[in-house]
Order: sequence, then structure tokens, then C-alpha cells
Amino acid sequence: MNSVSLFSPTATSLIFPLSFISRRIFSTRRANFQMGRENLSLIDKTKHANVRLCNVSGYKTDLLEIHAQDPSFHVLFIPGNPGVISFYTDFLESLYDLLGGNASITAIGHISHSEKDWELGRLFSLQEQIDHKTSFIEHEFQDVEVPIILVGHSIGAYISLEIFRRSQEKVIYCIGLYPFLAVNTVSSTQSVIRRLAASQILCAALSSIGGLLGKMPAQMSGVVVKKFIGKSWSSSAVVSLCTCVLQYHTIRNMLFMAMTEFEKLSEKPDWAFMREKKSQIAFLFGVDDHWGPLHLYEEIRKQVPNARVAVEREGHTHAFSCSEAGSLWVAQHVASLIKNHISNSNS
Ligand SMILES: *[C@@H]1O[C@H](CO)[C@@H](O)[C@H](O)[C@H]1NC(C)=O
Ligand SMILES: *[C@@H]1O[C@H](CO)[C@@H](O)[C@H](O)[C@H]1NC(C)=O
Ligand SMILES: *[C@@H]1O[C@H](CO)[C@@H](O)[C@H](O)[C@H]1NC(C)=O
Repeated sequence: MNSVSLFSPTATSLIFPLSFISRRIFSTRRANFQMGRENLSLIDKTKHANVRLCNVSGYKTDLLEIHAQDPSFHVLFIPGNPGVISFYTDFLESLYDLLGGNASITAIGHISHSEKDWELGRLFSLQEQIDHKTSFIEHEFQDVEVPIILVGHSIGAYISLEIFRRSQEKVIYCIGLYPFLAVNTVSSTQSVIRRLAASQILCAALSSIGGLLGKMPAQMSGVVVKKFIGKSWSSSAVVSLCTCVLQYHTIRNMLFMAMTEFEKLSEKPDWAFMREKKSQIAFLFGVDDHWGPLHLYEEIRKQVPNARVAVEREGHTHAFSCSEAGSLWVAQHVASLIKNHISNSNS
């Protein structure tokens, strides 16, 4: 790669969140906001999420929590890569409201995908991030008596299925949003990211550039970020990007995790497990999403007949949680899946 191509749109897009951005950069489709602000005002947000730092098996971990007074279940949300939970605040607050205060919600960030470099540069693989979530459930959810519903985005959908496999007695339902479950061999974006993530030198270079951008005054980096990302991003998503993602340690960890994702997800998805649990699993796909492509959607329908799979065709994209309209649309979809599941299992 020469110095010119480092600043090409492709390379620049890789400085930014992998799973969020590439779809946007590589596609000319633009979000089509049929559900504009007028719909948002239909929901009067009653409760705000609290953010807290928690020690999970020795690692400082960002949690976002919304507690219901008398919950009948608990939603545990697993983010994609980057695993920065503040990207999902709008989505999770809307989901809380749509569930009518019947559920508490917790979102858990990935280790070292954070504003501060708590782990002093250490890199964490996909497997380590999965183990981290499993021990979180084992320890922190010990006293939670209500059933758990897992909701995961992108690689978080894969992680959720892995948690489901290990904590079957506690989990009653698992929802994967824009799921990354298998390497997409026909995607040129993925092959670029894969090659990049495998190169120590390029990872260090990109992380340095991203880290420098993050050190710029917030207003300046905000302008640069908006230029690349487009106008549909909410201002809170831009702030999350500048404070948590544009950090040397976060980008290194994103790329390292991505490398290990490509290794692990070269295997076929565990169809047998999905068939066994098909009444407790649901997926939402997007159009034109190379992480969760429509051929995977077709494959799931073939391999797991009668599974609950849907396709979002409103143009909200893989990075749904970065816009208010996308957050609301997906929250409505998830809430209706959960309500249906609960009423079916009660009847
Ligand atoms: C959102 O608002 C648009 C425009 O007012 C309307 O056409 C649409 O039906 C609304 N959607 C929902 C889910 O309320
Ligand atoms: C974090 O938890 C681990 C055990 O999981 C414990 O050994 C360690 O002392 C804790 N650290 C802090 C700062 O509380
Ligand atoms: C909350 O739970 C109650 C009792 O189970 C139920 O009647 C109500 O419809 C639920 N609300 C929502 C928004 O799901």
C-alpha cells in the first residue's frame, strides 16, 4: 500500500469502525427516513440509561443499564465491533420504553473498546471477549431471577449464540441484528479488512492515525468524522466515535478482534444448535449488508426451516444505532419479537 492509497476512501474507512462504516462507504444507497422525528416524538422517553464502570473477571468494563422497577425479564445486549455501548443508547432507551417498563436492560462493552486504555495496550481476541461476557452472566447475573433475553448486533449476534449455548437454563430468547455469523467470501470489503487486520504494521499505522484524529479538539474531529460518515449520524454517535473509537488502543483491539473473527467465522455456523433452538432464535437482516448478507438469510431459511428471520428494507443499514430513526425502527422490531415470544410462551 503506498501513501496515496492510505488516504483513499477504502483505507480511510478502515480507520473508522469496521462493522459500522464499511457498508456506508461501499454503497451509494442512502438511508431513507420514512420514520422521521415526528415518530420519535411518539415515544416519550421515560427513563435514561446509566453508564457505569464494572470489574468483570478483573477487566474494567463499560455497562449501560436501565432498571425497571418490577421486571419480568432482563434484556442483555451485546454490541458489535467496535464494542462501544454508547453507540446504542438511543436504541436501548427506545427498547426500554417500547417494552413498557417490563424489562430491565443491560448492555456490556467489549474489553478495551473504551475511552481509557485500562488494559495498557493488551489485545483481546473474539474468544476472550466471549469468555468475558459469559463470566459476566455467571457472576453479575447470579441474583437476577428473571429470564434473560439476549440481543446482539453484528459479531454480537455470534457472541450471543455462543452465550446461549453455554447458559441455556437462563436464556429464553436470542435475537441477532444484522448478524455476522460467517465470513462472506464474495465481499471484497471483507477481504480488504481481513488482509489489513493481519498486518501488524498496517494495524499500527491506522491505529496511530485514528488515535491522532481522536486527540484533535472535539469540534475539529467532529467535522472530519461527519465528512466521512455522512449526515444521518446522530450527534451522540459522532461523540462516541470521537471519544471511544478514535483511540490507539481501541482501534488496535478492533482490528485484532476482527482478525480473530475472520479465523473463527471461516467455519460453518452451528446449524444443528440453531435447529434445536429454532423457536428461541430470531434474526433481522438488512439489504446490502456484507456482514449479514442476504445469501446468509436464505441459507438460514433453508437450514433452519421456520426460524424467525426478517429483512429490514427501510434503508437503516448495518449502522442502524448511529441514527435516531434506525434506532427507533430496530427497537420497534425487537420489542414486537419479544412481546410475541412472551405471549406465545405464556399461552
Ligand atoms: C412514521 O411517520 C411516517 C410519516 O409521518 C408515517 O408514514 C409512518 O407510518 C410512521 N411510522 C410509524 C411506525 O408510526
Ligand atoms: C476485580 O475482580 C477480580 C476478581 O474477578 C479481583 O481479583 C480484583 O481484585 C478486582 N479488582 C478491583 C480493582 O476491584
Ligand atoms: C407488560 O407486562 C404486562 C403484564 O404481563 C402486560 O399486560 C403488558 O402488556 C406488558 N407491556 C408491554 C408494553 O409489553
